[in-house]
Amino acid sequence: MLDLIREELEKAFAACGYEEKYAKVTISNRPDLCEYQCNGALAAARQYRKAPMAIAEEVCAAVGDSDMFAEITAAAPGFINMKAGGGFLSRYLNGMAASPKLGCEETKEAETVMIDYGGANVAKPLHVGHLRSAIIGESIKRLLRFKGHTVTGDVHLGDWGLQMGLIIAELKERQPELVYFDGTYEGEYPEAAPFTISELEEIYPFANAKSKEDEAFKEEAKTATFELQNGRRGYLALWHHILNVSMADLKRNYDNLNVTFDLWKKESDAQPYIPDMVQYLKEEGYAHISQGALVVDVAEETDTKEVPPCMILKSDGATLYNTTDLATLVERRKLFDPDHIIYVVDKRQGLYFEQVFRCARKTKLVKDGMKLTFLGFGTMNGRDGKPFKTRDGGVMRLEHLMDEIHEAVYRKMKENREVSEEEARQTAKIIGLAALKYGDLSNQAVKDYVFDIDRFTSFEGNTGPYIQYTIVRIKSIQKKYNERKEAEPGPEGAGAGNGTILPASTDCERALQLQLSKFIEMVDTAYEEIAPHRICQYLYELSDAFNRFYHETRILAEEDRVRRASYLALLRLTKEALVLGIDLLGFEAPERM
Ligand code: ARG
Repeated sequence: MLDLIREELEKAFAACGYEEKYAKVTISNRPDLCEYQCNGALAAARQYRKAPMAIAEEVCAAVGDSDMFAEITAAAPGFINMKAGGGFLSRYLNGMAASPKLGCEETKEAETVMIDYGGANVAKPLHVGHLRSAIIGESIKRLLRFKGHTVTGDVHLGDWGLQMGLIIAELKERQPELVYFDGTYEGEYPEAAPFTISELEEIYPFANAKSKEDEAFKEEAKTATFELQNGRRGYLALWHHILNVSMADLKRNYDNLNVTFDLWKKESDAQPYIPDMVQYLKEEGYAHISQGALVVDVAEETDTKEVPPCMILKSDGATLYNTTDLATLVERRKLFDPDHIIYVVDKRQGLYFEQVFRCARKTKLVKDGMKLTFLGFGTMNGRDGKPFKTRDGGVMRLEHLMDEIHEAVYRKMKENREVSEEEARQTAKIIGLAALKYGDLSNQAVKDYVFDIDRFTSFEGNTGPYIQYTIVRIKSIQKKYNERKEAEPGPEGAGAGNGTILPASTDCERALQLQLSKFIEMVDTAYEEIAPHRICQYLYELSDAFNRFYHETRILAEEDRVRRASYLALLRLTKEALVLGIDLLGFEAPERM
C-alpha cells in the first residue's frame, strides 16, 4: 500500500522538477488528520531553496484528481496529508484477496538460514526457561519460511555437559553392580535402559543438589564426564540410554507445544570437529596460551565494556561450551553451508555469544559475510516480578504449566456454555496453547514479562483466545449464511466470500478495510525486525476493527445482495489475514469456543 502511494507521489514530485527520493510515505502519526503522510517537501525545501509549503502545494496539484486519494492536502509547514480513496482501497483489498499469500511477496535474496532454538538439555525436564526459546524460535522459523528462505530449525540439545557425569556418578552409587561400571567388561550392553523417564528426572535434580554439598561426589561426576567425553565404553552406552529415554520425552513435550525441529542435533555431534579445529586455531596463530588455557583474543578497540578472550581449552585440556559452539559452526558449515544462523537463547548468554561470534569471524571458521544473529529473550516472571516458580518455589515443569492453563480454559468453557466433556477438553488444549504462545510473543522478545494465567486465557483484550474468538465468530457467520442460502439463494460465490469488496459505506467498515490494507507492510516489518510481537499487535487491532464492524453492521440482514456479498468477502479476507497471522505465531483456531 505504501509503495503504491509512494510511486504515485514520485511521479508528482518528478513532474514538478523535484527528485523522486522526497516522495517517502509513512502511515500517519496523526490518524485524526489523515491516514498517510509525506514529509518530503520539508526536506526538498533545503535543496531547492523554496518554501516547503509551496512545494507541498505544487505536488498536491500535480497529483490532480487521481482516485487513489479521497483527500490530498498540503498542511503547514509543508506536510502532505493523504486519505486513501474508497475505490482505490477496495480495489487494493480485492487484489490482496486474489493473490497467493494475500499479496505478500517472497524475498528476492533467498538464503539458507539455520535457527538454533529449543536448546533443551538432555535428562533435565523441560522447564519454563526453555519455553520462550521454543515459542519464539518456532514463530521466526515460520516467518522466514513464509518470506521464501530455506530454513532449518535445529534443537541443539545439551547432551555433553556435567549433567551427564552427575547422572552417571549417581547411578553408580545406587547400582554399582550394573555392567556399565565394570571397566573390564567387553561384551554387548543391554538394549533396555536401566531407568525410566521418571527415574531419570528424579536422579538429575538429586545428583545436582548433592554435588553442591558433597565435594567428593562432585569430583566423581567430573571424572565421569571426562571419561565419557574420552570414550569410556560403558559410559557411552549409558549416555545412549539417557539420550533415548530423554529424547522421547522431549519430543512429546515439543509436540504438545506445536513446535517441530528439522534437526535433532546435539552438542556431542560437534565433538569430532574439535581436534582439527584446535589444531587450525593454533597453526594459524589465532590462539595462544594464557595461564595454561588456550584462548583467542576477541576484544575490540571500540568496546566500552570488557570482552574477555574466548577460551578454547582449559588448562587441563578439557573443552567448554564455547568449544562446542565453535565446533558446531564448523559442522554446520560443512553439512549445510548456511548464510545466516539465528540463535534464540536467554539474553543472559549475550556476552558469551558475542565472544563466540567474534572468535568465529576473526579466525574465519565461518565464511566471509556469513550472518550470525543473537536473539536474546528476557525472563518469564511470576506475578511477584521474580522468575516464574511453582507455588512451593521450585522450578516449574513445562508439562505442569500447560496442565494449569488447559484446566483454566476448560473451566471457563464449561461456565460459558453447554459443551461435551470431550469437546471441552480438546478445545481447551487449542485455546490454552494460544494463550501461552500469544502471551509470550506479544511482548518484545528482549523484555521480561509477567506470566498471568487469568489475563492470558481471557477471551477479551490483547490475548491469543481473543484472536481465536474473532476467527470463530467469522466462521459461524459464514456457516449461518450457507445454511440460510439453501432456502434463499444469494449471489454466486457469496458464501465462500468470493464476491467483490465494495468501497466502504461506514466509518467502521472503512476502519476495517484500512487495517486489512496494512497486512503486507506488517509482515515485512515483522520479518525485517525479526519481531513476532509486531504480528500480535496487528492481529489485535484487526480483531478490534472487525468486532466493531460486526457490532455496528447488519451483515446477513443486509438487503442489498451486492453489498451483502461484499461484506462476506470482507469477512473472508479478515479471516484469512487472522488465520495466516496466527499460523506465523505457531497456533491455530478451534471450530467453536
Ligand atoms: N542448552 C543451552 C541452555 O540450556 C542452550 C543452547 C543454546 N544454543 C547454543 N548453540 N548454545 O542454556
